[in-house]
This record gives sequence, structure tokens and C-alpha cells, in this order.
Amino acid sequence: MSTDHEDRIKQFLGLMTPEEKLGQLQQLAWAWDTGPGTSSTEEAEAAARKGLLGSVLNVFGAASTNALQRIAVEETRLGIPLLFGLDVIHGYWTTFPIPLAQAAAFDPAVTETDGEIAAREARSNGVHWTFAPMMDVTHEPRWGRIAESHGEDPYLTSRYAAAKVRGHQGTDLAAPDRIAACAKHFAAYGGPEGGRDYNTVDVSEQRLRNLYLPPFKAAVDAGVASVMAAFNTISAVPAHANPHTLTRILKEEWGFDGLVVSDWTGVLELIAHGFAEDGAAAARRALGAGVDMEMVSTTFAEFGRELLARDAITEERLDDAVARVLRLKLRLGLFERPYVDESAAVTEPSPATRAAARDAATRCMVLLKNDDQTLPLRPGLRSIAVVGPLADSGDLLGTWTVPDAQRRFPAVTVAEGMRAAVPQAHIVCVPTGTATGAAADSAGQAEAVTAAASADFTVVAVGEPPALSGEAAVRSDLELPGDQRELIAAVAATGKPFAVVLFAGRPLVIGDWLDSAPAVLLAWHPGLEAGHALADLLTGAVSPGGKLPTSFPRAVGQIPVHYNHERTGRPYDPAQPDEKYVSKYLDLADGPQFPFGHGLSYTTFTTGEPSLSRTGIPADQLSDGATVEVTISVRNTGDRAGDEVVQLYVHDLAADIVQPVRRLRGFERVTLGPGESTVVLFRLGAEDFGYWTNDPEGVFVLERGAIDIYAGNSSTARKCSRLTIN
Ligand code: NOJ
Repeated sequence: MSTDHEDRIKQFLGLMTPEEKLGQLQQLAWAWDTGPGTSSTEEAEAAARKGLLGSVLNVFGAASTNALQRIAVEETRLGIPLLFGLDVIHGYWTTFPIPLAQAAAFDPAVTETDGEIAAREARSNGVHWTFAPMMDVTHEPRWGRIAESHGEDPYLTSRYAAAKVRGHQGTDLAAPDRIAACAKHFAAYGGPEGGRDYNTVDVSEQRLRNLYLPPFKAAVDAGVASVMAAFNTISAVPAHANPHTLTRILKEEWGFDGLVVSDWTGVLELIAHGFAEDGAAAARRALGAGVDMEMVSTTFAEFGRELLARDAITEERLDDAVARVLRLKLRLGLFERPYVDESAAVTEPSPATRAAARDAATRCMVLLKNDDQTLPLRPGLRSIAVVGPLADSGDLLGTWTVPDAQRRFPAVTVAEGMRAAVPQAHIVCVPTGTATGAAADSAGQAEAVTAAASADFTVVAVGEPPALSGEAAVRSDLELPGDQRELIAAVAATGKPFAVVLFAGRPLVIGDWLDSAPAVLLAWHPGLEAGHALADLLTGAVSPGGKLPTSFPRAVGQIPVHYNHERTGRPYDPAQPDEKYVSKYLDLADGPQFPFGHGLSYTTFTTGEPSLSRTGIPADQLSDGATVEVTISVRNTGDRAGDEVVQLYVHDLAADIVQPVRRLRGFERVTLGPGESTVVLFRLGAEDFGYWTNDPEGVFVLERGAIDIYAGNSSTARKCSRLTIN
């Protein structure tokens, strides 16, 4: 904490009336957004003019933000600048792949670059604060917001959360190219029952702390400026009114001195939850539990005076909340530089940022299947058909884009990418039907099949469009929507070579068509440079190296299916598939279709045994900071360059709390030329071997006993060495 900032905060608190203090806790929405409870532009302007507004979300553009800021700075008694927030989730003008795709790169530098570019573009347009990164670990592919997450693993998500915070914030929030980040949604939002958005989460303390909280702790350690409360309940207490998570853990245990913002009308929704009888009670519960700023609903501002008068909230809590708002404004340098230079606003992606988005997209894609080296395309093809509902679609940016980005800067389509990459080939593009599944739509399929029958190779571009994932986009059926399976079957029936390019914001069920497709390249929603990045991979200019950050289920009925599940007393044993009384489905093969960490390359690799610097270590040495070094060799055994992700998993054989069968604790993506090898080094310490207990006070234990350490290129890695903690 800067003493200068704290002194200025004290001075302001001494000058402010209770109304002005409550005003700082209010965030209103700018009028372009028509979501529930939207305030009008006039309302925001009027509140700003009275000095009764702390922040506005969804206003952007240098001229608009400057105009609104002028009201707050020049027309109010105290001249406290406004804080402008916007959901800049995977890019501002330069749309990067969705976060789930970025996680598939197993390379946090991808998200750091996205964060940096987005910060520069956003801040130049007057945006100070983004509501990202989202870091909800989830085992729920039905939940549309998995697209915005980093998948099913807390370690991978933690590494990405910290990197995105660094990318957005840099080392100085006041810099003209940085924005404040927001760790969301606190907490356990990724575990909604039935996968339904906003739904109940009942979670043990140990699961909360071992699965959901680590990314938030990593973000706080990386200096994240703010945290957003989640819409769900946590064991029957709404996250917006949960003193255990918001105050006890976040503010006290972790020492977080930043700002806690509610989600959109999340405070008022305490009434719908049945946790508050009216607006006053909602304000009392939320402010009392630790929410500092209220987004869109207005209960703090409306009822705050009354609550203070009857001691239902303390002045101390109010001042603390205001201090957190002012601290962020001071850190952002808003008092010194409230306006942006309108002539310097970034208004479009640059060649350099496009190149970064293209590189990111190539790193994110995952080659799920590639029989008989179907991919990459052989050189010298004379004709290539590009067919399917997404063959020539620019709607591949992904779930969260800034307003107007889709219209102004749509994604490069698959057909466009292929035409640019293979100019000597005749590219026949036949878009078919729609991918939304709204109605069976086989338009163009016959023509697509004819094109496939006469082309040397066909790219079938299928999947779900961005509108089917993201917030409030939950699906109960995860198959390809509409008539897309029929299209794949018909193309397969031509007997000609083809590959499926799969676009998705979540794991899909790849059922009956998987066997007939010789190659499947998972492209996710790749962002602005989609078509070019795909062409880079399809042509073999770049070899795919992405890995799944989330398991792909065989069937919806199997969900949740994830690699880091707890051990059962009756596990399924593949050597005894007919054993009845084990944990399995009668009508489904065991495990996911594709496991966490899976992803192929155009070359092949071998990963060696994990070699330990020591086979035993005293627990107290680990607790004092000692580490065990694990080295893993990896060799490119093929005849072309490629990337491999060396993955390290641990398993605690017996513990006081039943442990996951595996936990990822290290990964590194390496690039190796043909025949080349390298050795990757990991250092494991107490944090990697211990776990949080069910004690609500937060107890992390490191037990004595055996730990198996696995190395390989997916969560099914078999090579193992044992460490004894004694
Ligand atoms: C609701 C979403 O849950 C949250 O992630 C987002 O930041 C806010 N709306 C603001 O748009």
C-alpha cells in the first residue's frame, strides 16, 4: 500500500458526506446495454453530476468516456473521477481465441500477450478496468461459461490467471497502456448443479479450497486489483452475501486490499435467492459480507443511510469499502490523468496485433485425431473443398467481444484462410445450413457432397457458433447441432480424404461420427485470425501442439467426467471390464472420449521417466521451503518439427482426505526439431504435495507417506516414480 495513497484516502473520507461515500460504491451501466435492470445514460450522467457515482460499466470510446469523466471531475464538489469498466475478455479490437482455447495452448504467455494487447487498446479508449480474467474451474461442459474458463484444472487455471493479471496490469496500473483486472467469479461458480447458469453450488470446504480457490489466490498473489462476486450460492449462502469467502478468506486470510464488485444486479438478487426480504436487507447482507461496489442495482445508495442510522452497517465498513474504490482510482492514476488522449485512441487491430492473434490461435488448436497422417494436406493438391455451416463464416470470434467488434472486425473465414494459404489450388467453398440447430437445416448439403466427391481433399467446418456458449448459453445436448452429423457422414461416404475442423466453446460429444472422420482438428472459437491460423495448421506450416484443458465426454449422461476425480472404493479396472460392482456405466465405456491433456502433433514424441533428485524427503524440510527436482526428458522421434507439452501429475497414495487420482502440478510446452531432445526441469515443494482440509479456518497439511509422480503427454501418463515424504 502506498502511504501517499492512504493519506489521500483519509483526507477524502474526512471530506465526504455519507451520500457521497455511498455514491462511490455505485456502478451504473451505460445505455447501450439492454440487459436486465439497465440504467439509462441520463441516469448515469445525473448521478455523476451530483457526485453520487463511483463507476460506469459499458461506456467506452475515448470521446464518450472523456465527456462523462468531465462531468465527474469538473462539475462536482470533490471532483473524484469515475472508474470505467468493460468486459474485455479475450481482446478489445484484436479478438484472441476464447479463454478455454487459450488454456489449450498450455502456454500462459498466450494469455499474457492477449492481456497486454487488450489493455493497450482498451485504455486508449478510456477503459480503466476489465472484468477478467474469469478463473472458475469447472467440470461442467453443459455450462456455457466453460468457454470463458480455463477448464477443469486448478493448477493450469492458476498459471493462466496470474499471467492474465500480469498482462493486463503490468507493474504500474497508472501506465497509459494498462488496465485493472478482476478475478471472477468468487467463488465456485463453475460447479452449478445440472450445469445451469446461476444455479446452486453445494461444496465442501476442502473442495472449495483445493479446487475452486487456488486460481483466485494466484491472482491475488499476482496483485489483481479487483474481485467479482459470483451469482451462485456456496453451500446455501449466496456468494454476494458470504462473509466466509469475501471477508474471512479473501480480505483477512489473503490480505486482499483491492475492490470487491458485485456482479450485475447480484446484490438485489439476494431477494430472489430468498436470502433478503427487501432491498435494505440485501444491501446490509452484501455490504456486511464484503461487497464494496454494487453493479447496476442500487440498494447500497438507496438504503445505506438508513442502515447506518440503525447501525445495521458500521461506518468502519462503509469507509473501508470507499477506501477500496478510491485506492483503485489512485492506483490507476485517475486523479492525475482522468482523461485519455482522443487522438491516440486505438481504433483497429494492427498488423502486429493480428500476427499475435494468429500465433495464439495456432497454439490453441488441438489435433484430436489424425489417422494415417491425413493431415497436414499433401503439397500440390489441385482442388480443396471447404464445406459446412462454418466454412465461410466470420462468426468465429467467440463468446465475449466488445460491441461492434463482430461487425467491424469479423474473423477471417476458413475459406478465406485456405485461399490465401494455398493460392495454387482451386478452393471450392460450399456453406451449408446453420450450426445453431434451431431447425433441421440441410440446405446446401447435396452441393457440398458433390464438391467433396470431386475435390482432392475436403475440409468440413462444423461445430457450434459462439452464440451457443458463454453466459446463459447452457446446453443439455452436446452433440453437433442440426444436420451436421449427417453432413460428415455424407462426406465420408464419398470415400475421398477429408478432415473435420471443429469449432466449439465447450467440449462436445463426438459420438457416432468420430469413427468415420479420419482427422479431427479442434479449433475452438479462434478469434480474429481464425482462417489464417487454421490454414497454418492444415497445410502443415505449423504443427499442432495444443492439449485439452478439459475432458471430452462420451455422452452427456456421464457428466461430470474429469481427470482429477477423487478415488472411489470400487474403481473400474480395465483388466476386468465385466466386473459388475464397480463405479461404471452399464451402457458406456469407461472414461472420457478424449482425456484432459490429450492432443496430437504431426510428429511423434517420447517422454522419459520422471527422474527425482531424491527419493525421500522429510516433511519439515518441505515445509521450510525445500524442493524436489524432477527432470523429464522428451524427444521428437518424428521427421518434422513440432511442439510437445510435458506434463507432470502427482498422486498422494493415502491421506486423511480422499485425494484426486491425479493432480497436474507442472507443464512445459517445448518446440523440438526432428530427432531433437531436451530435458525439462520441475521443482516440487510443499504446495504441490499437500492439501487443504475441511477446516473452515483454512488448514493446509503436508502428510508423510508416498507420492507417485507421473510424467507424460496427457493425464493418462503412465511413467511414474515414487517419492516418500518422511
Ligand atoms: C454478468 C457476468 O456474470 C459477468 O461476468 C460480467 O462481468 C458482468 N455481467 C458485466 O457485464
